[in-house]
Amino acid sequence: RILILDFGSQYTQLIARRVREAGVYCELHPYDMNATAIREFAPSGIILSGGPQSVHETDTPRANSLVFELGVPVLGICYGLQTMTAQLGGTVISATHREYGYAQVRARGHSRLLRNIEDHASVDGFGLLDVWMSHGDRVETLPPGFIVIAETPNAPLAGIADEMRRFYGLQFHPEVTHTRQGQRIIERFVHEICCCGRLWTPDNIIADSINTIRAQVGNDKVLLGLSGGVDSSVVAALLHRAIGEQLICVFVDNGLLRLGEGDQVMATFARHMGVTVIRVDAEALFLDRLQGVSDPEQKRKIIGNTFIEVFDIEANKINAVNWLAQGTIYPDVIESAGAKSGKAKVIKSHHNVGGLPEHMRLKLVEPLRELFKDEVRRIGIELGLPAEMVYRHPFPGPGLGVRILGEVHREDAETLRRADYIFIEELRRADLYDQVSQAFAVFLPVRSVGVVGDNRQYAHVIALRAVETIDFMTARWAHLPYEFLDLVCRRIVNEVPGVSRVVYDITGKPPGTIEWE
Ligand code: XMP
Repeated sequence: RILILDFGSQYTQLIARRVREAGVYCELHPYDMNATAIREFAPSGIILSGGPQSVHETDTPRANSLVFELGVPVLGICYGLQTMTAQLGGTVISATHREYGYAQVRARGHSRLLRNIEDHASVDGFGLLDVWMSHGDRVETLPPGFIVIAETPNAPLAGIADEMRRFYGLQFHPEVTHTRQGQRIIERFVHEICCCGRLWTPDNIIADSINTIRAQVGNDKVLLGLSGGVDSSVVAALLHRAIGEQLICVFVDNGLLRLGEGDQVMATFARHMGVTVIRVDAEALFLDRLQGVSDPEQKRKIIGNTFIEVFDIEANKINAVNWLAQGTIYPDVIESAGAKSGKAKVIKSHHNVGGLPEHMRLKLVEPLRELFKDEVRRIGIELGLPAEMVYRHPFPGPGLGVRILGEVHREDAETLRRADYIFIEELRRADLYDQVSQAFAVFLPVRSVGVVGDNRQYAHVIALRAVETIDFMTARWAHLPYEFLDLVCRRIVNEVPGVSRVVYDITGKPPGTIEWE
């Protein structure tokens, strides 16, 4: 297993994902992880991430010196290279030319890390690599024992190595996909230099999780709030495989779900997989609570609190439940750890079935805590969940409640459901669904005049939203083909009563958010 020490780069999670993709288990910890914890982790190799600081300023982060004394391979990336250089007796200076973006690196063929990895061969026998650079500082003199393994015109020491101690440093970022050979470099490090096998595979992850879950919960019953989203679905499938009938799922239909969603969840889990699912039809209660409320944050709070209330009532009807399962995944864990230590900048806090009442006193079982989203999806497929469920766009907890602007009415939810269904159906039909990260319709409570047949119509407006994004923190509106938008618009206006006009949202994030409320 590989230990990644995080110096605060925006790419650190990517390093972990690349190592996992190479089939090797890794964990990400803050750069100041203490010596005892490092020893206990017993890494086969250590990666030092990039970071926003400059090593020659005072009080900038350093790796614990144990990192260089354990006798395991170390790979420093960007800031990680620079701190390794400074800590081992070399020097780092501010570069006169900062480098951001694509660069071409000349790699010297003799290093174990880069041997035979190249995008182009150059005339003088060096390999050329197309890489992604993002740095202001550069290594000026090598620490004792190191040699140069890669260079650029602006950074003559862009890659360094001490083959004896198996210490390597790269100024560029192998973890980003713009570095075309990046995955090969990471695989070279973890497989050949750290000697880690490809053991982190979906079937091994499932087998391990099943053992852990069984050991953790024994014969106890486990309760799960099933939403139909990817994470809770995979938790349900995994727990069902591990403990069968001991798992009880509660599925709350709040009346703000997409068309046919409730039936689909029941069909997949209850009928197809034989999971115990209690379906609670709480539409009337939710809509009643939302009556007269138009402020988005207030709507979110009401929906969240009502969910907890309904869930609590159901849970109390079931005897002797000791555990609550949650779909917490590794990025949530990293984010809240970062939030606690104040290191990572936290943009959004995550809650699953957050804030359950104290008196429930359930212990938590979180079988996806170590997994990234793509791993969750892969094990979902391996567990037999349908691909449409596993590769579904995210859907917010408050559901259509934040896609019907202002006050929520039942008939508007019905209108929105039908329009949204057409949009998604056409995206799938045109093979565009997987090319966008999230797409949905929004109900606008304004009326506009239209003509249907010979009649004048004065009806509502539907906005369509489709975005492309990696992390949902920033997003670009999807440039869907005009013909496609034309088709969707015609279908919605013709088939959905109460809609006279369709508009397409071309706002990025920032300045917009993805949802309208
Ligand atoms: P925004 O609108 O903030 O959305 O750009 C970013 C991502 O988060 C989802 N989202 C939510 N998810 N509860 C959730 O579970 C919420 O209240 C909520 N608000 C937004 C949104 O769908 C998008 O994927």
